[in-house]
Amino acid sequence: MPRDRKITLEEAKKEIEKLREEIRYHDYRYYVLSDPVISDAEYDRLFRRLQELEEMFPELITPDSPTQRVGGAPLPEFKKVKHRVPMLSIQDAFNDEEIREFDRRVKRQLGLPMDIDIEYTIEPKMDGLAGSLIYERGKFVLGATRGDGVEGEDVTANLKTIKTIPLKLVESEIPAPEYLDARGEVFMTRDEFEKLNRRQEEVMGKIFSNPRNAAAGSLRQLDPRITAERKLDIYFYGIGEIRGGPELKSQWEILQILPRWGLKVNPLARKCRNIEEAIEAHREILEQRENLPYDADGTVIKVNDLEYWAKLGTTTRTPRYMIAYKFPAQEAITRIVDIEVSVGKTGIVTPVAILEPVDVGGAIVSRASLHNEDEIKRKDVRIGDWVVVRRAGEVIPEVVKPIPERRTGEEKIFKMPDKCPACGTPLIKEGAYWICTNASCPAQIREHIKHFVSRRAFNIMGLGEKVVDLFIERGLIKDIADIFYLKYEDIVNLPGFADKSAKNLIEAIDNTRKIPFDRFLYALGIRHVGEHIAKVLAENFKTLDNLRKATFEDLVSINEIGPEIAESVVDFFKNEANLKLIEKMQQGGVEIIYEEETKSVESPFAGKTVVFTGALENFSREDAKEIIEKLGGKVASSVSRKTDFVVVGENPGSKFQKAQQLGVRIINEEEFLKMIKEAEGGANE
Ligand code: IVH
Repeated sequence: MPRDRKITLEEAKKEIEKLREEIRYHDYRYYVLSDPVISDAEYDRLFRRLQELEEMFPELITPDSPTQRVGGAPLPEFKKVKHRVPMLSIQDAFNDEEIREFDRRVKRQLGLPMDIDIEYTIEPKMDGLAGSLIYERGKFVLGATRGDGVEGEDVTANLKTIKTIPLKLVESEIPAPEYLDARGEVFMTRDEFEKLNRRQEEVMGKIFSNPRNAAAGSLRQLDPRITAERKLDIYFYGIGEIRGGPELKSQWEILQILPRWGLKVNPLARKCRNIEEAIEAHREILEQRENLPYDADGTVIKVNDLEYWAKLGTTTRTPRYMIAYKFPAQEAITRIVDIEVSVGKTGIVTPVAILEPVDVGGAIVSRASLHNEDEIKRKDVRIGDWVVVRRAGEVIPEVVKPIPERRTGEEKIFKMPDKCPACGTPLIKEGAYWICTNASCPAQIREHIKHFVSRRAFNIMGLGEKVVDLFIERGLIKDIADIFYLKYEDIVNLPGFADKSAKNLIEAIDNTRKIPFDRFLYALGIRHVGEHIAKVLAENFKTLDNLRKATFEDLVSINEIGPEIAESVVDFFKNEANLKLIEKMQQGGVEIIYEEETKSVESPFAGKTVVFTGALENFSREDAKEIIEKLGGKVASSVSRKTDFVVVGENPGSKFQKAQQLGVRIINEEEFLKMIKEAEGGANE
């Protein structure tokens, strides 16, 4: 490597050190504080300069350099690591009473009176896998899985690929300890999991069954380059051992100090004055469960005072000073009564299991997706089988697996029909799917319209499934564009409508005519173009015109766009009928808004911090967060003096009182809606 004559070894050393410090600081701002102070481009410049210098002076490369995340060659096998402090498990509880019993037991064992308050911390119980990360004099030297709790596997190289793990601790205020065994949960977000599965399905025809398995499979990869592609994340929740560092007195102090060193802690962690507050906090976290970006299977409630920890001690398997308060299971066992097929918006004909109704995590489930014929064969699911069903997030419940042990011999093997159940068109097979190719198939049109008006697409309030069915039945809408030609006179006399409701619906349709490009794309219901891909396409092509002209090659050259998606997009825009439909919508007043136009928002939330408490009627937490962020604000999980607004929904938690105490401005959902409307209206004008 030719050396840059302008720079000496000494100078390079200095510059390298400075660059590393800067990069670490910006990683910390970005990954831990979620509050970056430089642009991605500026960051890339620093990073490239460091790479350049390290290439010139390879002798200056150290294992904790930010460039050394993706390590070298695959390992033949993992080395075993004995944990100096064992990694135990946690005792489970399933209801409030068991939690109160835990609190009483703690007091009894500590010899404290029953009527005093003990402080607790509460954190989500992440559903990933535990890691132990050893930092010596601030440097990340060894990372291990839990294994059997006594001995785990050395996954240092893989952990290094996780961007949120500092290779060197941040030491701005508090010096790093001599030795630190930081414990945390490695996980994969649901978004990442879905992206990974889409890739897996395309490449290997095989998918992971849940984010935890995907995280475990990715961390236990002998080739760190594969782990690096999988985008894992971590939240730290504790310390196994610390030497030569500050004296820590409570779990809360631990949760405060870890992020100071750059070790990210779950922002939903809270301190509670007593067990009742912890139970309340559990309920608040449970409420958010489906909107969290990752899977959590409960919360962990920990005695706060570490002196009590020492007094309470552990059993052979579990500590006596913490308890896992599990969420209701999202899996249940029931029987498949029948298998039907349903026609989706793009003509894909999907087998659906009709179930004996069963309570899954608080919702009654009577239908579950079986994905496609190949999946049924692979899992060997039969009519009459007892099966495990799962519901997760907002997705449709699915059949996970049959329980062959419970078969009686009466079960029947399912056979896909050869004709569309709605229109009788012969089905054709594309990959794993059977497709009805009749573009005017009534079932397809119905599903297409439902998707089009749904919350994440055009979000036309008052146009729910039943109304859509009614309008189709009366011949008022035959395709998605017809919606924009509906008139008051058409609907006022229909069953279920009157003057006001008809006016409201027309107004709701009017209000949705201006729509951001990505949502418009998603609403079109192009096969393989979900919300995320719609965003990717909108970002890359900017306008409908550009996208329409894009070739297969243009599309696949984009990260995240595989050949299947590219083909589907090209096919969509090649189809005259689709182009006509878009034109018809535009003539009906639909106007696509492109990114630049939405930026200059005059928003009451710009630069403001917003906290939510209680259930909102019109939004999920995730949607509300998205809206605030779009309007230039930030959403925080707890109330402090820095909070600008607290939005209060139904059954607000203790954040409401805190906001009152601190005099933070409190707004209800109605006001919140009004503010959003005003801001969004302003953005569109
Ligand atoms: S504290 C004694 N806090 O749950 C173990 N664990 O069932 C101390 N987990 O192996 C762990 N989130 O992997 C703790 N906030 C949290 C956690 C958490 C997830 C996992 C951890 C542990 C397992 C025990």
